[in-house]
Amino acid sequence: MRSSKIWDLPLRVFHWLFAISIIGSIATGKAENWELHERFGLTILGLLLFRFLWGFIGSETARFATFLKGPASVFQNLKDILGRKSAPEKGHSALGGWATIALLFIPFYLVSTGLFSTDGTLFDGPLAHKVKFETAEQFADFHHYAEPVLFLVLLSHFTAMAVYYIWLKKNLIPPMITGGDYEAASQDKALSVKWQICGLMLLAILVGAAHSLTLLKPALF
Ligand code: HEM
Ligand code: HEM
Repeated sequence: MRSSKIWDLPLRVFHWLFAISIIGSIATGKAENWELHERFGLTILGLLLFRFLWGFIGSETARFATFLKGPASVFQNLKDILGRKSAPEKGHSALGGWATIALLFIPFYLVSTGLFSTDGTLFDGPLAHKVKFETAEQFADFHHYAEPVLFLVLLSHFTAMAVYYIWLKKNLIPPMITGGDYEAASQDKALSVKWQICGLMLLAILVGAAHSLTLLKPALF
């Protein structure tokens, strides 16, 4: 049995867990609930590791090699949008491909700096004890700097969806929930159900492994 979806199941599970965890990280950061903030952050780390691997072994639309295109394709994509031509392609558009990299990279930066951050008093990230206290404080500053960038990238994500919906009369959201329909011609490139189950297991293992980083924290007593 083979899947005939635009977005394979592991990618969709990744997307919604990622969205929930990003929103959770922001909310817990604002509420200064650092224990939970760290848990959301570590979930993001596991999800990012999964997404990186899936970019090589996932379905066609999930692969970096398929959706990362050169400047000519990006300009063509922009021209099409301005000319109100909805691209017929399945998966990310040229512009969407690069937006995906930004949506993955900023959280990656936040997790990497978060791991070494301290709030200066009660809470340390799982690897903060590996660096000097002053360095951990600097990591927290670097962590903070990315906040407006994250908001900007998220705003572009939502704006892009609104533009597609209003200007191009194309709703991108249902396929990210149901998977959407891949054209029959592409079926041979679709992913087997077994491979998708392996993908889901890989995702769960990597999230679990990321959470085990808290075990590296030095005992308080
Ligand atoms: C809660 C509202 C959200 C909705 C409705 C939504 C919807 C979507 C849709 C429709 C796509 C596919 C775009 C396309 O067709 O090219 C997508 C892709 C993506 N979204 Fe979201 N999104 C949401 C929140 C988020 C958040 C908070 C993040 C976190 C940074 C995020 C990260 C991504 C990423 C990384 C992709 C690319 C998927 C991949 O190939 O890995 N999304 N989103
Ligand atoms: C393992 C992962 C993470 C750890 C250990 C961590 C740790 C921390 C710490 C210690 C602070 C407080 C810094 C201070 O008091 O100056 C902080 C703030 C913050 N973090 Fe994280 N973080 C992680 C991941 C993330 C992620 C993935 C995001 C966003 C997607 C994020 C967003 C924020 C924001 C927005 C603040 C500032 C909250 C505010 O003061 O308004 N963090 N984080």
